[in-house]
Amino acid sequence: MAEESPYKPFYSVLVLAFFCSLLVAGAAVGLRPLQEENKLQDRKKNILQAAGLWQEDASIDALFADIETRVIELDSGQFVPESSISPPEYDQRKAAMNADMGESIPDPDDVAGLGRREKYSLVYLVRKNGDINQVVLPVRGKGLWSTMYAYIALQDDFKTINGISFYEHGETPGLGGEIENDRWQAGWQGKKVYDESSQEALTVGKAQGDTPEKYQVDGISGATLTTEGVDNLVDFWFGSNGFKPFLTRLQETGGKYNG
Ligand SMILES: Cc1cc2nc3c(=O)[nH]c(=O)nc-3n(C[C@H](O)[C@H](O)[C@H](O)COP(=O)(O)O)c2cc1C
Repeated sequence: MAEESPYKPFYSVLVLAFFCSLLVAGAAVGLRPLQEENKLQDRKKNILQAAGLWQEDASIDALFADIETRVIELDSGQFVPESSISPPEYDQRKAAMNADMGESIPDPDDVAGLGRREKYSLVYLVRKNGDINQVVLPVRGKGLWSTMYAYIALQDDFKTINGISFYEHGETPGLGGEIENDRWQAGWQGKKVYDESSQEALTVGKAQGDTPEKYQVDGISGATLTTEGVDNLVDFWFGSNGFKPFLTRLQETGGKYNG
């Protein structure tokens, strides 16, 4: 009887490992478009939720058809023509890291811990009789463990919050992860981002002295650091390095801005 090669088990394991890796790589590549589509649908759902337009039994795409997606230049607050940047193809996160499309934020201004900022942002508009009736803005900022991503919808005075929806973060479930809690998010409704003199005035967490309730959102107990991160992201995105130039244009034109 011929003696078996001592290397045979080794070869068998190698061949098996090779086919398994092919299978895993094939699945990862093959499923990527599906994952991307699911991510896109989830973001649309969160935009609808922030705007109070989400309905459990309706199709996301049908509901989203009422929302106009545009790109703005953050510094000027002006709309960017679709021929320059096409909203469906614009990847804001990649743009922040790009040498031409993004820029680093000087330390004193970087209150949300972002490091870099994109020059252009997507915005989502809901119109009524042709005028902008609601605007949904993508915001993000550092929490305790992660960058937290959310959409914030403002009513037609462009100062009052209609809703917020956190859709991606790596905070601890039950602690910082409570930013996703519907009850906590409901507490943002009706709060004012700007005061009478158009200064950013919303505080998330501990109220400072006699802060009126309309400028104050409760913090999450046991998650002081995540709460601070949320407070900071509000400060950044509603300040002059964020959406303030755009929101000022909407406030001044009563939602008729089209430039
Ligand atoms: C395992 C673990 C996970 C935690 N996750 C969070 C978190 O996601 N967000 C947060 O703000 N604090 C988190 N904390 C708590 C912080 O370490 C810190 O104690 C807390 O933010 C302080 O809040 P307090 O002043 O309300 O106690 C976590 C603590 C532990 C031990």
